[in-house]
Amino acid sequence: GAVPVIAVDGPTASGKGTLAAQVAQRLGYHLLDSGALYRATALAAQEAGVSLDDEAGLATLAAGLDLRFADHRVFLGGRDITDPLRLEATGGLASRVSVHPAVRQALHALQLGFRRLPGLVADGRDMGTVIFPEAELKVYLTATARQRAERRQRQLAERGVCAKLDELCADLEQRDRRDQTRAVAPLKPAEDALLLDNSELGIEESVQRVLGWWQQGR
Ligand code: C5P
Repeated sequence: GAVPVIAVDGPTASGKGTLAAQVAQRLGYHLLDSGALYRATALAAQEAGVSLDDEAGLATLAAGLDLRFADHRVFLGGRDITDPLRLEATGGLASRVSVHPAVRQALHALQLGFRRLPGLVADGRDMGTVIFPEAELKVYLTATARQRAERRQRQLAERGVCAKLDELCADLEQRDRRDQTRAVAPLKPAEDALLLDNSELGIEESVQRVLGWWQQGR
């Protein structure tokens, strides 16, 4: 298509979000944080008292999400949900919501709508495999659960939250397993994805690596 897409996929706490946001900013592209859609669906379900096993009910909520992204904040039906959206617990709920094919189907069109000129950087689990299979550049982040748990621990500490490394690690591994083994759109690298092991790289080095790949391919 005419609108270029860079897909950034990878497991929980791999640094996808920061990397995608930085690359989008440097290129002046739009950003899709697809995880936020699953997280918002989970929060909406909690509020409406819809069970995380009620596939049809969740899909209806997903299809009717009134989400707005502005100034690094996220609004659901006009309400600022940025803080609850970022909670670890919400990520866990999102991963349970995201196993349902009807929910993924309901969020599919919404995600395609983010593809606007001059370009899009899309971050998630299935950006390169399912949502934007024709993306010009697909990046798949790899880092061990231990390294990701340490990253998450640092992020939480910056917010004044103290978390045990072992518990974080166990949570991440459980979420990885659920994301990798689900029947629809499981987490895995696209065949044409470039692997980026960012465990030993700083954020700026990772950004430069991706921008370099992007320029090479153009
Ligand atoms: O990336 P984030 O941690 O916000 O994603 C929360 C959960 O949403 C993931 O664990 C995953 O189960 C689900 N998700 C997904 N497909 C995406 C993005 C997120 O299934 N494209």
